[in-house]
Amino acid sequence: MSKMPSPSAIDATTSVVSLGNQFPSDLIGVTGDTPKLTWQVQSSTAGTEQVAYEIEVSDSITFAPLMASSGLVTSSQQLAVEAPGGKLSSREIRYYRVRIATQLGFTAWSPTLTVEAGLLEASDFNAKAVGNVSKHSDAAPLLRKEFELSSQPVKARLYVTSQGLNEMSLNGLKVGDEFLSPGWTSYHKRLNVSTFDVTHLLTKGANAIGAKLGDGWWRGKFGFMNMYDNYGTNIAVLAQLEVELEDGTTQTIVTDESWKTGTGSLRFADIYDGSTIDLNLAATGWNKAGFDDAGWSAAVAYPVDSAILKPRINSPVRVIDEFVLKLKQQSDRVLLVGEQNISGWVRLVVDGKKGQIVTVRHAEVLEPGEKLHTKALRTAKVTDVYVLDRDGRHVLEPEHTFHGFQFADVVTEAEVISAVAVAISSDNEIRGTFHSSDVRLNKLHSNVYWSARDNFVSIPTDCPQRDERLGWTGDAQAFAGTANTLFDAEAFWRSWLIDLEHDQAENGDVAAVVPDLISLNPVPPAEDAGWEVMGRAGWADAATIVPMAVYEHFGDKDVLVQQLDSMRRWTDALHNRRNGAEFLPTEFQFGDWCDPDAPEDRPWLSKVSADFVANSFFANTLDLMVEAEHLVGNAEGVAKYGKLRDELKANIWAKMGEEAMSTTAGLSMAIEFDIVPADKKQAAADKLAAMVVADNGRITTGFLGTPLILHAMSKNGHTAEAYKMLMRREIRSWLYQVDQNATTIWERWDAIREDGSIHSGSMDTASDAQEDPSMISFNHYAYGAVIDWVYRNVAGLAPVKNKPAYREFTVAPKPAVGFTFAEATIATRFGDAAIFWELQATGDLAIQLAVPFGTNAVIDLPVTAGSAITINGETATNGSTLGHGDYVLVVTKPAVLDYK
Ligand code: BGC
Repeated sequence: MSKMPSPSAIDATTSVVSLGNQFPSDLIGVTGDTPKLTWQVQSSTAGTEQVAYEIEVSDSITFAPLMASSGLVTSSQQLAVEAPGGKLSSREIRYYRVRIATQLGFTAWSPTLTVEAGLLEASDFNAKAVGNVSKHSDAAPLLRKEFELSSQPVKARLYVTSQGLNEMSLNGLKVGDEFLSPGWTSYHKRLNVSTFDVTHLLTKGANAIGAKLGDGWWRGKFGFMNMYDNYGTNIAVLAQLEVELEDGTTQTIVTDESWKTGTGSLRFADIYDGSTIDLNLAATGWNKAGFDDAGWSAAVAYPVDSAILKPRINSPVRVIDEFVLKLKQQSDRVLLVGEQNISGWVRLVVDGKKGQIVTVRHAEVLEPGEKLHTKALRTAKVTDVYVLDRDGRHVLEPEHTFHGFQFADVVTEAEVISAVAVAISSDNEIRGTFHSSDVRLNKLHSNVYWSARDNFVSIPTDCPQRDERLGWTGDAQAFAGTANTLFDAEAFWRSWLIDLEHDQAENGDVAAVVPDLISLNPVPPAEDAGWEVMGRAGWADAATIVPMAVYEHFGDKDVLVQQLDSMRRWTDALHNRRNGAEFLPTEFQFGDWCDPDAPEDRPWLSKVSADFVANSFFANTLDLMVEAEHLVGNAEGVAKYGKLRDELKANIWAKMGEEAMSTTAGLSMAIEFDIVPADKKQAAADKLAAMVVADNGRITTGFLGTPLILHAMSKNGHTAEAYKMLMRREIRSWLYQVDQNATTIWERWDAIREDGSIHSGSMDTASDAQEDPSMISFNHYAYGAVIDWVYRNVAGLAPVKNKPAYREFTVAPKPAVGFTFAEATIATRFGDAAIFWELQATGDLAIQLAVPFGTNAVIDLPVTAGSAITINGETATNGSTLGHGDYVLVVTKPAVLDYK
């Protein structure tokens, strides 16, 4: 490496340098943690590998002078590489670039990555949190302030957070493109601060800044107990606008009691109930300079602990899609028919007269007679109301709320002109795409994608429509692997996991919902039914399962380092709960929740016993703990948890094994969690497959068993039986939902029955506390966890466990009868891994494969005794490893599974 070849000497470029493992690429105002860079390399020269890298950092975009350089580091690492220069301080802007050397020489420098830190110290905040004296459900507080800038701004940043929701504006224009800010966190322990570049929104002379607040998760109606004021009785915004001017001076505008507060058209806004906008009461021009606020009051300051203000690390909620709604005029209303169940709202265009009222109600499904099915929403009103202020055309959209819906109806004397469904979600980048010759399977993929979109609204929720929308940890752990296949969700999970730890009890128990709203409520739900929500099996285990799923898919140990303490505390809490006994005590568990054979109104009474579920998930958590301790290099932890695990697994097998073998969920857990001894595993898988065949693929598992069952079969020689279950179309199957025109994944397999009737959802939670304890949703992602299996087996792309983030992946498509092709792409941190396979008229299986630079693909193709394999025309064998590049693989006489 002594002689440096010229950059153009080799056919490779270093591109797309990002902080991918830490933050979404478009985020400014990040934490001060030393940036960890990830880069992608393009090279069309086969066999080249990164042998060294060099990173430069500067506070000048010209890289002169340099702040630091890594020097030439001999390493093949290109993911989450700690950059030279160390931590950032508040507001600091730095520029990074990378070049690499392959065996053939150096690439040119990469495009420049700009990193800007937010406000990192409590002492950086001079602003106070201000609001008015309103109560929950009152008109939304507006807050405003005018200020003069002595010359043109050259750089302006707005740092903002709030207790309650905020929407900021400058000179009448919305700041940024986020909604429901600052999102939902464990508010008493962490308030997220957004940073916006607002240079373009300011001007020399008079300016005005405005804040429109909402009750949101802070004090709006929330939780199935319908509580208000969960986090506090007052809502308030804390904003700090820092402006650098052309004349070299700086100016800072902060929220304080000098701001004025009033109200406008937004008379009511609640996440569950919807919003009411009376346009006659609009405070026109309130967020522009020159507005007469003489009648407005002085803002009221509320205490906030600056130590809990933290830069937001995940993507905000944004509009991610729009769908035109069809209008159907009915005698008493206009029905709006959508093609997709979404989270969001209706943008409605009407022609009307002053004083006319427009009421929009929403639902996921229609009842006979094209009536909205609103029973499933329980007490959530999900209704937006508008009062028109003049004759003519109006474009109407609700504020500070969102609804889970596919259909809506409008009751009004005004004429409805058009309607659009506006879909929102945490704006995680799409990572996986899948397509095959089976249209129903493609639709299932789309339904899972949408359930993830609709339920990733700031946090991972159970459902987006009824009076719930909570961060149920069980649902999250069930879906985490699939979520990470579909989306770049690393920062999304890392943010949520911070709150999981914040809300962990003193004894280490993890909450069933994060943020833990239930513990904030004085009455635990369904107390008299013996419900316990802290530390429940399969729910609290999100503490170990989610971090490991993030590591497997994105490859940076930081998520484990971040969560290690939380993971250990939860694992130790489980051990302590045994109090010296072999097993966990028999207690209320959610069990294999929603087992379709459980009594409809008692979904926790799964066929597999609560004790087996609890101890098996404990064993799995110990397994994950051992792995995590190994990865962070703590041999003591490996030994400690390894011993507990081995003892526990042996005990479970000895005393509960027989029982587990009698249920599909029990078998799936025993196989997937390695509770069944290695020499008995095949027999267990054979039994499971036989039970599935006997049931004709009918699903017999709930939230915990369903994500495991196909893997438990296919990893043990029963892929055909897994297909049988996947491709079943009769009731109790994924494709039954597709045939019923579902556009998202249901909470219960029979949410809509074969006769078209809708499940009542009735629940026996034996509690007076909840008004209407029914439970039926058409948008719960837990059962959508199957899609991870589809990527790994139908398309055939799977990350290798010990080489995470697809640094190594297997290419193992399993074509089945009825399929002619399948394709999938995973946008890995290294670039796109892609497969397209086709069963050709000749009977050959032809595969196009793209392997990104920095990764390897291991070939495991479906062969029969008479098969021959070629790769780019050359004879090859299974087990071959392929470096980066594009390949054509052909298998003659391939194995095609007959599952029918
Ligand atoms: C939620 C589920 C959740 C369960 C646990 C339900 O109300 O919607 O998804 O995991 O409760 O009890």
